[in-house]
Amino acid sequence: MAIDYTQKIPNNVNLADDRTLQRALEQWQPNFITWWDDVGPENSRNNEVYLRTATSVDPQGWAVFDYVKMRDYRWGIFLNPADAERQIHFGDHKGEKAWQDVPGEHRANLRRIIVTQGDTEPASVEQQRHLGLTAPSLYDLRNLFQVNVEEGRHLWAMVYLLQKFFGRDGREEAGALLERTSGDANNPRILGAFNEKTPDWLAFFMFTYFTDRDGKFQLAALAESAFDPLARTTKFMLTEEAHHMFVGESGVSRVLQRTAQVMNELKTDDPALVRAAGAIDLGTIQRYLNFHYSVTIDLFGADQSSNAATFYSSGLKGRFEEGKRTDDHVLKGQTYKVLEVQNGQLAEKDVPMLNALNEVLRDDFIKDSIAGIGRWNKVLEKAGLAQRLVAPHKAFNRKIGALAGIRVSPEGRVVSDGEWKAKEREWLPSPADFAFVASLMGPVLEPGKFAGWIAPPAMGINKNPVDFEYVRFG
Ligand SMILES: [Fe+2]
Ligand SMILES: [Fe+2]
Repeated sequence: MAIDYTQKIPNNVNLADDRTLQRALEQWQPNFITWWDDVGPENSRNNEVYLRTATSVDPQGWAVFDYVKMRDYRWGIFLNPADAERQIHFGDHKGEKAWQDVPGEHRANLRRIIVTQGDTEPASVEQQRHLGLTAPSLYDLRNLFQVNVEEGRHLWAMVYLLQKFFGRDGREEAGALLERTSGDANNPRILGAFNEKTPDWLAFFMFTYFTDRDGKFQLAALAESAFDPLARTTKFMLTEEAHHMFVGESGVSRVLQRTAQVMNELKTDDPALVRAAGAIDLGTIQRYLNFHYSVTIDLFGADQSSNAATFYSSGLKGRFEEGKRTDDHVLKGQTYKVLEVQNGQLAEKDVPMLNALNEVLRDDFIKDSIAGIGRWNKVLEKAGLAQRLVAPHKAFNRKIGALAGIRVSPEGRVVSDGEWKAKEREWLPSPADFAFVASLMGPVLEPGKFAGWIAPPAMGINKNPVDFEYVRFG
């Protein structure tokens, strides 16, 4: 399980025994570094960052913390240990041995799944590349960089699979992952949410809360895969993903804490007064939440999808926590409820569950997301405020599936184009909201100091104090 760091590419997959693969990856490595230099964290080259690096994949001792220049970070290939007896536990191949190689008939679909997942990893680094210039503290700057290097490693995880198991096409896809760019007009990233901007730190915290959580659910579904190397690599990625969601959840909590403090000090809920005091008003936070939530639930895909059925039945992608479910794990003849518009109103209808597995995963994500919004509301409750954040309706602001193009209010009421236009600025962040939040951004780089719109964290990283020098500038 230990990771070999004496190799050019750290790994726990005996890369040295596979010369062809080693050569292919060593050829890809300089292109990765060029990509990092070109579109990775801006102006960060000389920074020494207090980062954690994986040393082994067992849950106890996998992380070591030290100062690292990010472009010297030891990106590598880390798989969870193999279980020689592992069986496929869902779909038409249930009970057969898990695959150590890619079956010919599933090759195209598996490649597509791996490329789509792989594409999101560098995309988020690109989306976040300017944020280091406006960090609200050294603590936050370090967390941003930790997320960035780990998304880079997730790219390595997918590139390993492409290069080891998909021959020439895999090598081409690995190259293309470094060529597409988030938001690029001609060669954008594959999925919509990964072409949106992450313009400020409130957006970053919402992104890491919601969109990295999409990552968690996708990875968890892939961790069930019959293709064992994919299952093992995504299991290890999930342990890294947990930190990304922590950054988002605690980040928004700290923003709320500061906002509540200002509201209590001024005894006001007037957004203009809250803003004048340099905090972010709750309405703006709610609108950011509405945006990131709706854009992220689109990532799960169309509510009815024959691809989703094929991926499940052929064993490529399971459900979240497939092993804990007590049904037959084949799902033929079962149904699931999806939404559609009937007579101008949203209504549920039953459809074959296999075709609705995107919706099943989306609903699992929604449950998990709403639980965290509840924890955010505890911050408001503790501060004695009556206001609460809420998740918008599943049909709000959707661009994918049966709900795309239907105008629905955050409460779930179908509305006219006119009402949508009139209310859009109450429901989604407006240019004025973005401009206001941008006006608060500015680097705070003295250890232990925090920007005025965010409270300090309760504790530091790896038991260090909050005023620890998490980033040293060269
Ligand atoms: Fe990731
Ligand atoms: Fe992530």
